[in-house]
Amino acid sequence: MSQRCFSGSVFESNSGQFVDEVIVISGASRGLGRATAEAFANHGGTVVVNYRTNREAAAETVARVEEASSPATGRAVQADMTDPDDIDDLFEEVEREFDAVDVFVHNAAVTRFKPLSEVTMKDISLTFGLSVNGFILATQRAIDLMDSGGRIISVSGAMSYMPYNGLLDSAKSAMEQLTRYFAIEHADDNINANAIRPGVLAKEDNYFTELDDETREFIEFLVEKTPKKRAGELDEVAAVVLMLASDEAEWITGEVIDVNGGLSAYMDYH
Ligand SMILES: NC(=O)c1ccc[n+]([C@@H]2O[C@H](COP(=O)([O-])OP(=O)(O)OC[C@H]3O[C@@H](n4cnc5c(N)ncnc54)[C@H](OP(=O)(O)O)[C@@H]3O)[C@@H](O)[C@H]2O)c1
Repeated sequence: MSQRCFSGSVFESNSGQFVDEVIVISGASRGLGRATAEAFANHGGTVVVNYRTNREAAAETVARVEEASSPATGRAVQADMTDPDDIDDLFEEVEREFDAVDVFVHNAAVTRFKPLSEVTMKDISLTFGLSVNGFILATQRAIDLMDSGGRIISVSGAMSYMPYNGLLDSAKSAMEQLTRYFAIEHADDNINANAIRPGVLAKEDNYFTELDDETREFIEFLVEKTPKKRAGELDEVAAVVLMLASDEAEWITGEVIDVNGGLSAYMDYH
């Protein structure tokens, strides 16, 4: 664990700002989690790549982390972040291997897109188990390993009022509020906690491919109404996670930051 100091800047390429830092990212086998792992690695970080089932994809993320820069290293750790025992095992492994955690990014999310009148207990447990219960338990474990301060960053989403997204949207709202409380309760421990709220991401393999026509049209509408007229690239969202993890963001805590090309300026989501 490094002491935080104002040498180097995450805004310089390959600054080395995260050398000697351990970054744990849930759901880093693909998508935004993978892009975030690569971004930390570009600045020298040691990245713990959590995944649930997709071992090969997680191994590919680790390979990319290790190619990114020296001395960046990666470690894939399987854990279902809805399962308290798996969460404990993950952080025990992190403690054994790396002693401490500097940054925890709760990126993993999953849901079932359904009208609320049709959701089952299984759907509720799946969605809230990861974005609420899993977030609380994993953040507790991460904080236990943040000896000299640290950063918690939760990944929410600006998808309010998307058809049949009531479960995930509510779970993310709870996660945002929990993030604010972690910020307040751990400010004295030099731990900052913030959430980011991306808009539609530019990725082909995301869960939107499973959506019905009404929801797909709504997403197209959101992209069209985004002032910048496009979906967000994974790298540009990952860059904001790095900014929040950086020394430069010392005075930012308890915030929910929209990262959506101006969509929230057009529509009030809050
Ligand atoms: N996609 C978008 O347009 C969009 C928009 C706004 C916000 N977001 C948010 O951004 C984040 C990343 O989204 P994404 O689309 O990049 O995700 P994604 O491609 O669907 O990947 C999900 C990741 O979460 C992991 N995961 C799922 N359930 C898990 C569990 N129970 N325990 C541990 N890991 C689990 C998956 O692991 P496996 O590979 O092993 O299954 C995978 O690494 C999410 O929080 C999402 O809500 C996404």
